[in-house]
Amino acid sequence: MKENVYDYLVIGSGAAGLYFSILAADHGKVLLLTKNSLKESNTYYAQGGIASVDRDTDSFEEHIKDTLTAGDELCNPKSVEMIVNEGPEIIHDLIRRGVKFTKDQNRGEYSLHREGGHSKSRVFHFKDITGRELIRALTKNVKENKNITIFENTMCVDLLTEHQKIDPPSDYRNVTCYGVYAFNLKNKKIQKILSRSTILATGGSGQVYLHTSNPAVATGDGLAMAYRAGATISNLEFYQFHPTTLYTEKDKESSFLISEAVRGFGGELKTKDGKKFMHRYHSLKSLAPRDIVARAIDTEMKKRGEDHVYLDVSNFPAKKIIASFPNIYHRCLEEGIDITKEMIPVVPAAHYQCGGIETDLHGKTDVKGLYAIGEVAQNGVHGANRLASNSLLDALVFAKISSVSVQKYISKNMTDFTGIKEWEYYHTERPLEKVVVSYLRNTIKRLVSEFVGIVRSDERLKMAQKMIDLLAWQARDYYMQTKLSKETIELRNIADVASLMVRFASFRRESRGLHYNIDHPHKDNENWQKNTRIRSSGRRSKSEISK
Ligand code: FAD
Ligand code: SIN
Repeated sequence: MKENVYDYLVIGSGAAGLYFSILAADHGKVLLLTKNSLKESNTYYAQGGIASVDRDTDSFEEHIKDTLTAGDELCNPKSVEMIVNEGPEIIHDLIRRGVKFTKDQNRGEYSLHREGGHSKSRVFHFKDITGRELIRALTKNVKENKNITIFENTMCVDLLTEHQKIDPPSDYRNVTCYGVYAFNLKNKKIQKILSRSTILATGGSGQVYLHTSNPAVATGDGLAMAYRAGATISNLEFYQFHPTTLYTEKDKESSFLISEAVRGFGGELKTKDGKKFMHRYHSLKSLAPRDIVARAIDTEMKKRGEDHVYLDVSNFPAKKIIASFPNIYHRCLEEGIDITKEMIPVVPAAHYQCGGIETDLHGKTDVKGLYAIGEVAQNGVHGANRLASNSLLDALVFAKISSVSVQKYISKNMTDFTGIKEWEYYHTERPLEKVVVSYLRNTIKRLVSEFVGIVRSDERLKMAQKMIDLLAWQARDYYMQTKLSKETIELRNIADVASLMVRFASFRRESRGLHYNIDHPHKDNENWQKNTRIRSSGRRSKSEISK
């Protein structure tokens, strides 16, 4: 029987996956797979907005300069120029496709927010629910497109390469991606899906940490799959913490974000006794770049033995606060906090993965036929630290650029799918014991949070390295020994990503951007102004990080 082969297999339905699907569908058949519902993604929860130059008072040069400054001399200037220059065209295309952005009522032009590290107000937003609006409009476009087939509740387990052929090669170099094994979370069946091109748009890995702004789907699946398939992974030591998520006494799977736009609006950070402290850390005070603000909060909390600080907007008119931040206002009220009258308790949480699957300026990885776009990718835009509201822009621009490049790739390359095996059900029928998965998952998350968090040290990283090796081995073993399930697939991915993060953080012997190690507190351009990289050789112990 002739197998169904797609032109474009897109994994993930955030900004990157949805926009890519819409653009690629003009040229071929798209299959869009997503782990949960179409909407569930980091994108859906984005508040602040999309950075793009709009006014005469701003310029591409200034946006480029702000991005390079945040990236701490590790961005690829070509990638940065590309996303900044494409920004206005992307915003207009989104508007054409039905995305709404808030306008300034008096002047009739778009209202632009200012966020940390930006020298100008340039963040397009829709109230404080920009992500929700983007997803609403893009999913409408996707659902109406006859060239796009959508599989929801379908979780990719592993990429198909030569290693899934009957006669696998011994080494992982020069492999091609032929599609994926995907697990249907409803009927629990696994399916082999073939495609001429595969686009990973699976987002970040915030769930590797105990406290994160990311939703439950962000378990680093795409990154782990790409590593196992032999793609180069880069810069995983740079994990961005958002300075302000809502502090609650009970731990939650995902922490609610208090947008940086609240500080752009005039919100001030204060300690529990109501005293401002950011003037002691940076001239931009509460609007300093994110790494500095997160580190300052961490330092104040540790110094004072307190579990949160406060963000205060209560001196502004209530009407103005509610009109600007309706979602934040209502969500805080649910927790019993009236932000028009009281300070908001906040704490930093893991937010954005700056490293990822290494790609070129077209989203191409070093596995043939495999592309990576959005947060899962490391394409040179963010370097050692991401500028606020640049990630949606990055995801959308790279979706656009790579859609052209993938189209060229599939028109020039004939892919030979012969010999790719069906999923081999080597997992036993042994049922999963939830206590084992939750123990391993939580132990890994705690380890990463405490040893590879905002502030690191050689001693902690050394201990982390020893512990993660054992935990990751146990997680992989448990995955192999147990009936296939979402829980064990995620556990294996979290373990693989955590293990890589510890290795990357241990490798970089300086402090730069988001990587701050008290034993190497200075930036060392002579030795370390380089990306760190790893590529699996197929024999895990032999793969080493290099720069
Ligand atoms: P995502 O939007 O995360 O989408 C990933 C998709 O992949 C999801 O659909 C997921 O279900 C799917 N997936 C994952 N694994 C699998 C698998 N194994 N199989 C199938 N599907 C899978 N950035 C900004 O620029 N501006 C902001 O204002 C902003 N605010 C933010 C607020 C919050 C609370 C958070 C968490 C992030 C924010 N960010 C913001 C960052 C930004 O939202 C993300 O970087 C961006 O949305 C990533 O888009 P993406 O398409 O790459 O991934
Ligand atoms: C926010 O609204 O603070 C998030 C912006 C971002 O992560 O870019």
